[in-house]
Amino acid sequence: MTLFIIARVIHIIAVVMWIGGVAFVTTVLIPALKRMESEDKKLELFELLEGRFAFQAKILTILTAISGFYMTDFLSGWSRYLDASFWWMHLMTFIWIIFSIVLFVLEPLVLHRWFHEQAEKSSERAFRVLHIMHIVLLTLSLIAVFGAVAGVRGFFM
Ligand code: HEM
Repeated sequence: MTLFIIARVIHIIAVVMWIGGVAFVTTVLIPALKRMESEDKKLELFELLEGRFAFQAKILTILTAISGFYMTDFLSGWSRYLDASFWWMHLMTFIWIIFSIVLFVLEPLVLHRWFHEQAEKSSERAFRVLHIMHIVLLTLSLIAVFGAVAGVRGFFM
């Protein structure tokens, strides 16, 4: 039981730091950068800050997954994936898969270079697309947090 509580604490701290970071980038950093005059500085600052956050986010997604799958096993909860009333389990896992693919595969191999090229062609368009992608991911993440907190307390049963 103690390990389960430790896993839950790790899970929540990792989610708070990770999704909190995504919320900061989406609601503060990108809107502020979009208003910056100098296009070179805008791109340079974004790459510097997002790069540092991406490193943290990689560690946080790993901690979230280890603690999340441990809790699923402890609760004998694998069958939840076959039950639609546990949609929030599906959503949590889906978000983790999307972020993991972006952070570990797409960003280093494709996205970093692609965004740099797009920003050099049209900074306004590149930052608009980037902002929309962040808004979608943040919205889905907040729905997952809502679903998990309410679902654990039997809200959807
Ligand atoms: C591999 C991915 C993940 C797995 C396997 C997973 C699994 C779990 C499990 C088993 C629980 C405990 C449920 C219970 O006590 O009945 C939980 C709790 C929670 N998860 Fe996840 N999770 C994952 C990712 C995420 C993500 C990405 C988020 C946020 C966007 C998230 C947010 C939460 C929250 C807020 C709780 C706590 C609910 C509460 O106790 O009030 N999880 N997760």
